[in-house]
This record gives sequence, C-alpha cells and structure tokens, in this order.
Amino acid sequence: MRLLNQNFMARILLHTCCGICAGHCVSLLQSQGHEVVLFYSNANIAPASEFERRLKAVDTLCAHFGVPVIVDTPNHREWLERVARGFEREPERGARCPRCFRYSLERAARTARERDFDFFTTTLSVSPHKPSKTIFEIGKSVDAERFLEVDFKKQDGFKKTNTISRSLDLYRQSYCGCEFSLRDALAQRRTATPKTAEMLSDRPEDIALAGSLLRAGGLVAIPTETVYGLAANAFDENAVRSIFSAKGRPFIDPLIVHVHSLEQAETLADTAHPAVEKLAKAFWPGPLTLVLPKKATVPDIVTAGEPTVAVRMPVHPVARKILRAAEVPLAAPSANPFGYVSPTTAQHVLQSLGERLDYIVDGGACDCGIESTIVLVGETVRILRLGIITREDLEKALGTEFSVEIGKGLLEKKAEEAEMQTAQIAPGMLKKHYSPRAKVELWENAIPNLEDATGKTALVFQKRPGSLPALSENATAFWLSEDGDQATVARSVFALLRRLDDAGFSDIRIERSPNDGIGAAVNDRLSRAAAR
Ligand code: TXA
Ligand code: MG
Repeated sequence: MRLLNQNFMARILLHTCCGICAGHCVSLLQSQGHEVVLFYSNANIAPASEFERRLKAVDTLCAHFGVPVIVDTPNHREWLERVARGFEREPERGARCPRCFRYSLERAARTARERDFDFFTTTLSVSPHKPSKTIFEIGKSVDAERFLEVDFKKQDGFKKTNTISRSLDLYRQSYCGCEFSLRDALAQRRTATPKTAEMLSDRPEDIALAGSLLRAGGLVAIPTETVYGLAANAFDENAVRSIFSAKGRPFIDPLIVHVHSLEQAETLADTAHPAVEKLAKAFWPGPLTLVLPKKATVPDIVTAGEPTVAVRMPVHPVARKILRAAEVPLAAPSANPFGYVSPTTAQHVLQSLGERLDYIVDGGACDCGIESTIVLVGETVRILRLGIITREDLEKALGTEFSVEIGKGLLEKKAEEAEMQTAQIAPGMLKKHYSPRAKVELWENAIPNLEDATGKTALVFQKRPGSLPALSENATAFWLSEDGDQATVARSVFALLRRLDDAGFSDIRIERSPNDGIGAAVNDRLSRAAAR
C-alpha cells in the first residue's frame, strides 16, 4: 500500500454514496493540499429517485468545495444479481454490506486506474455505522497499490460532516441505500415509535418505492379495480407471513397471487387447461381469479398447503405499474382486518390498518367495489366466489365446451369440516365476513317498519325511493344507487357499510339485490355481513 506523503500533492478519487458523508472527507483532503475528485457511485440505491435526490446533494457539496464529480451510472439490476442475491434477508450491517462495499470499491479502483489517479478512497469510513477495518481490507484487496486508507470518522469526523451538511442544507437520507436497508429502517422506526402509514401516489417515484419495498419483503397496500389489497412478495415466506399477522387472518385461509402477465402467471401455476386460455383471453386483466394447480415455486403459506393457487391479473393501472416495478408476483388479500368490510378507498385502509403498515398507495376509489369472482378450473369450472364477472359472462366466454357450476368457497368447506370435527377454529368466524360492527339485517319486498326503532338505525334501499316511509327519529334512509343499477350498487355497498359504522349506526336494515348477475354477488356479500 502506498502512503500519503504530506509533501506530495496527490490526485485522489473519493468514492461517496451521498452528499452528507462527503463534506468532512473533501474538506480534510483539501486541507492537506490534495486534489480531490468525487466519485458518486451507489448502484445499491433503490428506488431510482433516491439516487437523484442524493446526487443533488453531492452537486451542492461539490459546488461549495469547488471539486468535480464523476457520476457512475447505476445498474441496480446488476447490483441485485451480484451483491444481494441470496443475501436478501440479511439484516442491515450483516453479510450483504461488505459485498456491497466491494462492489463500489471495485468500480472506484477501476475508474482511478483508467483516469490515472494516484489514489482512491471512500467516504464510507466516516460513518460510525460502517466498519472501517472491513472497508480497508476490501479496499486493499481490490487494489493495494492505489487504495488510500483514511479513517475519516477519527477526530469527530462524523460530527464535522454533519455540521457541513446542515450548513449547506443537504438532503438527509433516512436509510443506507438499498431496498433491504429501507425495509429494515422502516421496521425499526415502527417499533421505536408506532406511527401511521404514509400515503403514496401514482407518481413514478412513489410507484418505484412501492415496487422496491415489495421486492425486499415489505408490506404495501395497493389499489385494484375490485378492492384495496395488502400486498407482499409471493415468493417471500416471511413477507407473506406478515400479511397474515397484519390482518389477524388465520393461516388456513389462502391468498390470491397477483401477476402482470400470463408469463408471470406461468411461474406460479399450471395454465395448460384449455378453459384457462379462454377465460384469460376474455377477462384478464380484470376482476377474475383462477384457482389452478400450483407450481413448487409458490410457498405453502400462500396456499394454506392446498395443491392449488389462486391467480389474478388486475386491470387497475396503478396495480399494474406496481406489479411491473416489483418484478415479483404479489400475494394480496383484501386490505382489511380479517372479517371486516373490504376497503374500497385508500382512506378505508388507513383507518383500519394504518397503524400496521408503512405505505398505502392511493389509486382512488375502486371501480368494482366488491372482490373478484373466483373460479376453480379443474374437471369442471366452478365458481367459488361470485363477483362482477357473472356466471352468465363465464358461460358466454367458455361456450358449450365447458359447463359452469356454483360451488362453495374454500373457507365454507373448511367451516363445515370444522363443524363436523368441532376443531379449534370457530366455524361461525369463517362464515361471517365483510361484517360491519353494526347489526345487519336484510329485507326484500316489504319495507321494514321503523316507526318504533330505538337504536340508531339505517334503512338502506337499492335505489332512491319514490317516497320515504314514516321513520322514527332514530332512523335515517340511504340508498345504494339512483336507479338500482347493480354495478353502482356493488361499487357503493362496502363504502356505505363503513360509513354507517363510522357514523355510529347500531342497526343496518338493507334491501337485498335482485338475485341474478352482479346482484347475486352483492347478495352474497350482504348475507355474509348479516351472518352471526
Ligand atoms: O378482488 C380480490 O380478489 C381482492 C383483491 C385485493 O385482489 N382480493 C381478495 O382476497 O379478495 P381475499 O384474501 O380477501 O379473498 C381471497 C379468497 C379467500 O376467501 C380464499 O379462501 C380464496 O380466495 N382462495 C385463495 N386461494 C385459494 C385456493 N387455492 N383455493 C380456493 N380458494 C382460494
Ligand atoms: Mg377479504
């Protein structure tokens, strides 16, 4: 290793990952009379917007000290492959970090050689969170001739660099850089100070952040055209486990996996059944979930040990962008506490799960308003859950080749078995779903007499009534649509149930939908909301 001679004015390439760390390091080297060029290189940074944010701080710093900067174009995908693969679950400061130091120092060494610098070194050693000894060992092993060993954290280096960055008002990052460090920083902050989730928008930088977090094993609530989903990387068992704990959902209830393309669906499920092609062509992307034979890639926790996996390709533009950004399939149940009404706006998610989440992506109110139609494609085509895509729609798309039948959902089947076996799970809990806190009763044809209603009671009509019946002072009338259009009723029903709950209604008397088409799906949700 060459040593820095105090009387020798050296040209030094100074690697840095951000503006903050560089201040003291530049100042120290300049004060020793050296010529410094910054090398801004950090392919670890995710999302890409964070790279730009830190670059701005580096530019401000360089202008202040009058030093040039070489910006190394980041290749995060390569970084993920070469540095992170197999080390994703390592905690911050674990075995992934030295690999990352090496990646950046190798790039710095190459640039120093190519551009004929006397030395290269790094600002990494200024941070008390980074092990100088390891950094020096890596630096020397990369290029013993050119690596300059400077422990910038000595003599209050970190304090000094912070003072400089504050005086220049530089952007202060709250995590080291990669999506895994962001995930850990968020988790740590959450345990230190419980806080409520942050809202993200559909701006590209927010989508990129959501994608990076999801890929790294974080939980993010996302909009879909049906209801909001609580998403996690479907291939990451720990991430999927955190969905269950955030929702309080029993592990016997499997999740739907969301994909952006048929090719991605094929990484999870066997799509060879001829009905799949027809259904996918007719309804994907859209509110249809197909239950198909699962591939070994899907962790058992996703499917509750079933040999099948539920796959859906949403059409909501924000959901699609997030899926593209995440690059992994996303397991996502509805983003509500288990058993409660599904959320159809970002505010609904914030209200009932906000304290258990870091981020919610706001994509506006959901267009369908009830969950997807679930279809089991096997020997027969069986509807397991009714939805906006109706039995008639399915029959039309499938033609005469396949018959469509209505079956029971997986949970109902399990509930029946439980009832027979008086198992540990409470069967009532499994049948009751989509339930507000208020007592729900259904009516049809005859308007209930609410002249003597005692509790705060909501009388809910399918469409705007011609005239209102006599109601007690405690009762108020609402309607789900102007004209009884069932797509509108489906869009409004969950939002109204939540609104009534929030307004403190104790009784909800709600008119049934006509029992066909979308109406049948609405009635399914209403009956469950009314189940006790
Ligand atoms: O519209 C939707 O489907 C929404 C959005 C977020 O995509 N998701 C949703 O997920 O409603 P969730 O978890 O609330 O309901 C999924 C249902 C559960 O009732 C589960 O039992 C069933 O899908 N399911 C999942 N995997 C299954 C499988 N392999 N076989 C049978 N049923 C399955
Ligand atoms: Mg649900």
